[in-house]
Amino acid sequence: MDSTDITPSAAWSTTSWRGHVAHQQPAWPDAAAHQAVVDRLATMPPLVFAGEARELTDQLAAVARGEAFLLQAGDCAESFETSADSIRDRLRVILQMAVVLTYYTGVPVVKVGRIAGQFAKPRSSDTETVDGVELPSFRGHIINDTAFTHGDRLPDPERLITAYNRAASTLNLLRAFTKGGFASLSSVHQWNREFVADSPAGRRYETMADEIDRAVQFMEACGISGETLAELRQVDFYTSHEALLLGYEEALTRQDSLTGGWYDCSAHMLWIGERTRQPDGAHVEFLRGVNNPIGCKVGPTATAEELLALCEALDPERTPGRLTFVTRMGANKVVDLLPPLLSAVSDAGHQLVWACDPMHGNTFTADDGHKTRHFDDVLAEVSGFFAAHRFAGTNPGGVHLELTGDDVTECLGGGAEVLTEDLASRYETMCDPRLNGTQSVDLAFRLAELLRDSPSSGT
Ligand code: PEP
Ligand code: CO
Repeated sequence: MDSTDITPSAAWSTTSWRGHVAHQQPAWPDAAAHQAVVDRLATMPPLVFAGEARELTDQLAAVARGEAFLLQAGDCAESFETSADSIRDRLRVILQMAVVLTYYTGVPVVKVGRIAGQFAKPRSSDTETVDGVELPSFRGHIINDTAFTHGDRLPDPERLITAYNRAASTLNLLRAFTKGGFASLSSVHQWNREFVADSPAGRRYETMADEIDRAVQFMEACGISGETLAELRQVDFYTSHEALLLGYEEALTRQDSLTGGWYDCSAHMLWIGERTRQPDGAHVEFLRGVNNPIGCKVGPTATAEELLALCEALDPERTPGRLTFVTRMGANKVVDLLPPLLSAVSDAGHQLVWACDPMHGNTFTADDGHKTRHFDDVLAEVSGFFAAHRFAGTNPGGVHLELTGDDVTECLGGGAEVLTEDLASRYETMCDPRLNGTQSVDLAFRLAELLRDSPSSGT
């Protein structure tokens, strides 16, 4: 067995989660129809390979040591209708952010998308009431639809198959883009879309892109070619989503023929959401037995005892890179709440990745009724996250963001200043508000500054 594979206790199996309480599962109208779909999925090919998940664990181990930075980003909820252009633009803005971070800090960036499977959403309420009519809440395209009719909101198990197919075609496109030349460093200018280029962050990006072009030309002129230059034409890009629907995840969990370990082959990395991270719950039970790198959201109510119990369940062998805690405290709480948690976990000897999700603790309803976040709050939480790590002597390992490459107006502020009166013009998200391309590139420059000033940036 591979040295990185974990050995779950004898009690674990792909179905042992069924003996625990599984929160946030839809009420399937016909349990037998749902099970029949899960059985069909179990016969379908895996979407990712175990070896790729192991590679990502190794890269996350470098993040845990402070030698690399994690950029995990993408949609809050992916739509079944996402176009190829929109997938390309989401990848493009992540590549732009990564190149800004690497260029200004010298630190390699591990790129993980919330993409190719981010279809299921936890909800704070099971139902939604509009004009006195109560219907099931929208739970993501893998379960039901956004339209407010009984038919659209009824959970439909056939959607699991559509989700699998959408994930497969999205992943196929991402593999083509990242290995086929689109991600080449010589395209760094072409990644800058017009609406981004018009902003102060976009102009700053153009200056950087000029410098990178000159550096690439210089290397070519010096006769550096072959493998070294080929390295600049490709990037490693990994997929991730919240492992919410346990029937779907179980169906795609397969035993690696090389190592004998179990891998959830629906994505390279899976995470547990804030609402389903009970240490004795079904989600923790399921994920403790798979060998993929695992994330877990950590909100403001989390205690040190809970985190230590999660570490014990999910990372019993203290494998660097196995576990990522994604903290989402809120800008005004992070500095007080985070340091004791950081110290408790590092005192227990776990070398895990700490990533900052500055989105979910900073959501509010704007005066016009739109759910939104302010760029300044996002930035303030990230700054507080870096300060908390400085205080505790631990590594600020990365960020976890909701963004899109599209020119939307969902979050306030940022480079091209989105105002409350702009929100309605291009508010397209199916769930939480996302940073647009300009705001994302702007955030990358601010992050680079914070990372450069961080004593543990690995440089
Ligand atoms: C999310 O990441 O979209 C989400 C629902 O986050 P959390 O579990 O942290 O609330
Ligand atoms: Co969200």
